[in-house]
Amino acid sequence: MKFQSSVLDYRKSTGDMLVVFATSEKEKYVLSGDGKAVDELLSGVLSDLLSGEKYDGAFDSTYLVHTHGKITYKAVLIAGIGDAKKLSVGKVQKLFARIARRATSARADSLHIVLSSELTSVFSAQLLGQSVSEGILLGSYAFLKHKEEKVRLKHHDVSECVIHVAGGKLEAFDQGLKRGQVVASAVSFVRDLVNEPPSTTTPTYLGDVAKSIAKKDPSLSCTVYDKKGITALGMGALLGIARGSDEDPRFIHLSYKATGAKKTVVIVGKGITFDTGGLSLKPASGMETMKLDMAGAGAVLGVFSVLTLLKPRVNVDGLISATENMPSGTAIKPGDIVTAMDGKTIEVLNTDAEGRVVLADALSYACKNTKPDYIIDLATLTGACMVALGEDISGLFSNNQKLTQDLKSASYNSGEAVWELPLAEEYSEELKSNVADIKNVGSTRYGGAINGALFLQEFVEEGIPWAHLDIAGPSFAEKDSPLTPKGGSGVGVRLLLEFLKNQ
Ligand code: BES
Ligand code: MN
Ligand code: ZN
Repeated sequence: MKFQSSVLDYRKSTGDMLVVFATSEKEKYVLSGDGKAVDELLSGVLSDLLSGEKYDGAFDSTYLVHTHGKITYKAVLIAGIGDAKKLSVGKVQKLFARIARRATSARADSLHIVLSSELTSVFSAQLLGQSVSEGILLGSYAFLKHKEEKVRLKHHDVSECVIHVAGGKLEAFDQGLKRGQVVASAVSFVRDLVNEPPSTTTPTYLGDVAKSIAKKDPSLSCTVYDKKGITALGMGALLGIARGSDEDPRFIHLSYKATGAKKTVVIVGKGITFDTGGLSLKPASGMETMKLDMAGAGAVLGVFSVLTLLKPRVNVDGLISATENMPSGTAIKPGDIVTAMDGKTIEVLNTDAEGRVVLADALSYACKNTKPDYIIDLATLTGACMVALGEDISGLFSNNQKLTQDLKSASYNSGEAVWELPLAEEYSEELKSNVADIKNVGSTRYGGAINGALFLQEFVEEGIPWAHLDIAGPSFAEKDSPLTPKGGSGVGVRLLLEFLKNQ
């Protein structure tokens, strides 16, 4: 899709679909200034139809009118903003994702959007530009690789999108529009990775993806450790979980060096390429979506895929523990003890709590082999976090207030919701083991997301600011929504790229 912004009068262009906005006041629609102008061009047909339909301009509501050649656009789409005071970055993205969906289903090739003052007055031109292209591109995403040709050919893509911006700030808006396209490409890259079948996206595959990303630019480098290398590093925890699988594990270390950067952010991803639960086997229904269990690793790869385009002024290390979690005659057994890279012993009582075990080694490695100012891990860690926060919100745990604040503001500006949960010290008792330094599950079934985070904290050296994002809920959409079609969501990428931009 080609994006273009324009300060020219939209009445002098032609296209398949023209989008104008309406707000909602006292449960009635109010057309934007340009909406009213278009209504006049159509001799009031628009307002007649809208009144007849009792259209209320609610957020995410749309109304499509064919113009029968009365103006230079084949159709006009009214997009509802609802209460303009309640707009957020996330809602703007959804609004434009919905517009993209409507344009796609109407098979429009050229889409023209006239931004209304409600939108241009609430957000900076750059942020608005970014939200527009991100919303449109993420809303248009489809994973069709394994569909028959007939279906793939039938799929419609809008080819040109022109945004009409009144007023001066076109340059900033354009920058945002460009940034949004890059960010959306990274998110789509992760969606593809997560949606791909688990027998394709093996640990070896993830390692190869990392290497091919690093090849693109001299500011990037990558080391991929195989089983031998992982053994040499002393990563007994990762090896323990990998024991039941026929696929070799990988430990991936990507690195981005920014010119003149003083700080280093280390991002760590859980890369369980399929989670059966191991010998603590999941029921069949619980396993259906478990190809999603490498979504954290996917986010790390997605971020790295665009770092050299966005050039944040901070060094970034990306670490991934990648393995399958399989049951077999060689699999780790409940009660087995493994030794993590930092020397701590872990009693693995439930092999389905495998994510924290493989991350123990990644976090130890981060503390020992990189120079982190911040460590941020992303993991589809617990079903308990989904119970607490639902499918759209990631759990945020951190030992550092500044990092928490920075992640929260990146959350708002990226449209990716997070909610802080406590690293409740008093629950650490839960993780005491009879026989080892720590056990991998709590003693009760309560507070599961917190227990997971507390476990991870044990492997972060004291004094290093660290945050854990439990992305179990948002990593995979079980139902279709405008911004996120069913399947992998690419969660984490937008948040991290925004966070890195602000460092
Ligand atoms: N990968 C799962 C968590 C998960 C569940 C992610 C559903 C996305 C959707 C993780 O490895 C797991 O199985 N966690 C267990 C932990 C428990 C055994 C302490 C869980 O949440 O049940
Ligand atoms: Mn599991
Ligand atoms: Zn898992």
